[in-house]
Amino acid sequence: MNNGKLAAVILAAGRGTRMKSEHSKILHPLCGAPMGCYPVRAARDLGCEPILMVVGHDSENVQQAFAAEKVGFAPQSPQLGTGHALLCAEEALNGFSGTLLLLCADVPLLTPATLARFLEFHRTRQAAVTVLTMQQDDPRGYGRILRDGEEIHRIVEEKDAGDQEKTISEVNTGIYLFESPLIFRLLHGIGNDNAQREYYLTDTVRAAREAREKVCAMTLADAREAIGINDRVQLAQAEAILRRRINETHMTQGVTFVDPDAAYVEAPVEIGADTVIHPGAHLQGKTVLGRNCVIEPGVVIRDSRIADGVHIKAHSVVQESEIGPHCQIGPMAHLRHGTILRGDNKIGNFVETKKADIGLRTAASHLTYLGDSEIGADVNIGCGTITCNYDGVRKYKTIIEDQVFVGSDTQLVAPVRIGRNSLIGAGSTIVRDVPADALALSRAEQKNIEGWRLRERKKKSDK
Ligand code: UD1
Ligand code: CA
Repeated sequence: MNNGKLAAVILAAGRGTRMKSEHSKILHPLCGAPMGCYPVRAARDLGCEPILMVVGHDSENVQQAFAAEKVGFAPQSPQLGTGHALLCAEEALNGFSGTLLLLCADVPLLTPATLARFLEFHRTRQAAVTVLTMQQDDPRGYGRILRDGEEIHRIVEEKDAGDQEKTISEVNTGIYLFESPLIFRLLHGIGNDNAQREYYLTDTVRAAREAREKVCAMTLADAREAIGINDRVQLAQAEAILRRRINETHMTQGVTFVDPDAAYVEAPVEIGADTVIHPGAHLQGKTVLGRNCVIEPGVVIRDSRIADGVHIKAHSVVQESEIGPHCQIGPMAHLRHGTILRGDNKIGNFVETKKADIGLRTAASHLTYLGDSEIGADVNIGCGTITCNYDGVRKYKTIIEDQVFVGSDTQLVAPVRIGRNSLIGAGSTIVRDVPADALALSRAEQKNIEGWRLRERKKKSDK
């Protein structure tokens, strides 16, 4: 019966009314990725090929969001129930023969280990249908499992259940393994004679039994894995569980979290050992953090590479940047796209950088804007330095060579080049290139008018 082939169908056509959203609920993010991505990736990890999504509500946006995930789409319109949804994938499966994993796009927390165990369970029992079930203290809303030892003979929906059946605490998670094409033969024979006038996928259990096929059920050890997201309260609960799972993985690999419930690390982020993450840190996208770093409260890092021994102080924002070893950043620094710090740099409070390549040991400690710049090693950028890179039409480059000292409150009007080892006097507006080893000064000379204050005061009191 079993040829080892595995495909997946992910149901995603439902409306998700209780989210009160314009968008399909499966597009709502969970730890940075649309919730529907998690079942897709779980199916891929298990080796399913093809993976099909049944789409209906908001299907254009759903297809666009999942275009990069290498899944096929099967439209379901109108939505006549879960059984009808799977039938809509029949054509795209193109006569697939093997085991079919059925997942719901709004059940995102199933782990690869659980799914592997589920598949093993199904195959060793040579079942035609295996249902993933869970125990619920409050089973309301779920389909109840009518057991017969390891096998089951029926699933009864809440709305169709009698009082006795309603007390059953083992419920259907909505996740199944089916042998295909058998499942489609069963589905074609199912009607919609029930309280909701829907074609129920759950009715394939009874149909399989009537066809003398084996139907088993495996109970989840941890029911939280099968949380289905119907509203934003459940979305936040799922996020908290996933956040904890991600952070615990990092903790087992040597990362310290001062408060693991209050650090927001997206799934793809990598973090080196002995790094300390403080509360309120957000590590997003393709961020990679080295060893021995300190990430203080309120820091946001997106799509950046941070080398070892970097200290990012409170409320700094780092995006699409590359930070070399042993840099000190912030508090309240803003490193924007294309920032490269070569190493041992100090970027202090209220410093903004963008497309700035900054050499070893160079420091900009306070109140500065460095944009479209190439800055050498051992440069000191004084407080209040501004690269004037934009004339309202185009952007221009500022080049500062090694060992330059830029005095405080300097404006560098680009395009401009400051030669090696030169010094710019505080308060200068530099509009022309400065040669190496020079002193550049461009401020008006100071005038002192002696006794001026005394004379002014006398004039006023004479009036
Ligand atoms: C379903 C099960 C129930 C189980 C519960 C677990 C049936 C008849 N009942 O009930 O036994 O306890 O899930 O959460 O299957 N969908 C479509 N097209 C449709 C209808 C639904 O794609 O026409 C998708 C939804 O987007 C969702 C999934 O199928 O991802 C489940 O649908 P939902 O309406 O939540 O099913 P329940 O009535 O909760
Ligand atoms: Ca549901």
